[in-house]
Amino acid sequence: MNFAIIGCGFIAKKHALAIDKISNANLIAVCDRVPEMMGFYSETYGAKAYVDSTEMLKDPLIDIVCICTPSGLHAPIAEEVARAKKHIVMEKPIAMTLEETDRIINASELNGVKLTVVHPNRFRTVVQETKKILDQNLLGKISHANCLVNWNRGQEYYDQAPWRGTKTHDGGVLMNQAIHNLDLLLWFIGKPTEVFSMEATRLRNIEAEDVSTGVVRFENGVLANIQASTTVYPKNYEESITIFGEKGTLKIGGTNALHFEKLEVEDLEDAEIQEIINRVEQDPWGTPGHQRIIEEMIFAIQNNKEPAVTGEDGKRALKLVLAFYESAASKRLVNILLEKREVSK
Ligand SMILES: NC(=O)c1ccc[n+]([C@@H]2O[C@H](COP(=O)([O-])OP(=O)(O)OC[C@H]3O[C@@H](n4cnc5c(N)ncnc54)[C@H](O)[C@@H]3O)[C@@H](O)[C@H]2O)c1
Repeated sequence: MNFAIIGCGFIAKKHALAIDKISNANLIAVCDRVPEMMGFYSETYGAKAYVDSTEMLKDPLIDIVCICTPSGLHAPIAEEVARAKKHIVMEKPIAMTLEETDRIINASELNGVKLTVVHPNRFRTVVQETKKILDQNLLGKISHANCLVNWNRGQEYYDQAPWRGTKTHDGGVLMNQAIHNLDLLLWFIGKPTEVFSMEATRLRNIEAEDVSTGVVRFENGVLANIQASTTVYPKNYEESITIFGEKGTLKIGGTNALHFEKLEVEDLEDAEIQEIINRVEQDPWGTPGHQRIIEEMIFAIQNNKEPAVTGEDGKRALKLVLAFYESAASKRLVNILLEKREVSK
């Protein structure tokens, strides 16, 4: 499988590294508006450099394109890639609006190409173990959950590029950072029905939110509260998800959510719980998430299957972020199930 990358900034390096680690994958082309951004990829991997994506996409040898541009540019670039009949590995968030998202999904379907969205945290060892526990219903009926992302992104992070922290091209802590945790909550718990949230821009000089807090009700009755921020002094403090069930309590935590901070399950022996904890502690990160996403994509293409994280998964996470934004702006409860959003009184 021959890969290309569009947008050669910070995250593109993880894609290149992942492609390099996979035996049947080669990075053959890269594209960036700024030529200097591409030197590393040409020198390290021999990738051909293009400043114009249209020109690059004419290359019939390219099978899959990783889109790593600022989030507000994902949709038009994905449409172009799909029209060129190349499969798409899309960085998160899939797009900034549901309308853009539908354009991406439609373009991939119309052109018969596969689409995956990079939510790599799903492949962390502790997350995989949690998913197994939940799929076996070992926690019983879940009453509620808690999700905290209290991190630090200083002003210098936002000042790196003009798109950062803008509402149209990046969003704030929810859209950029906590969307990974919202994706996990959806994966673990199911369909959300209602959202109420508040947000603020407290300490960073940006357009979007640097603090957000909210509650979500899920279709199965579970209530979850979410708090996310990039304002924590002096560095990242915590990323956690806690799930409270009638037969068990589970907390994934740490500065990054990589460890079980609590795992008590009525129907598991102490030795079984210790085995699960040992598996996590032996290799908390697991194979890097970007590599797993790309491996799963190659498998999906070769076996005509759905990729591990689909465009619809990306849309679900985005829809939840947008419901938070809508609730914060309207100061109302948002019913997320309604296709055409109505605001409850
Ligand atoms: N999955 C993750 O964990 C993760 C982590 C970081 C960033 N991201 C996502 O990756 C994307 C990029 O983030 P980043 O931090 O790498 O940004 P960045 O600013 O470091 O890099 C973006 C690059 O895109 C280039 N670019 C802009 N417009 C272009 C165009 N039309 N054609 C070609 N190149 C263009 C820029 O010159 C720049 O080099 C964002 O959507 C972000 O949310 C995901």
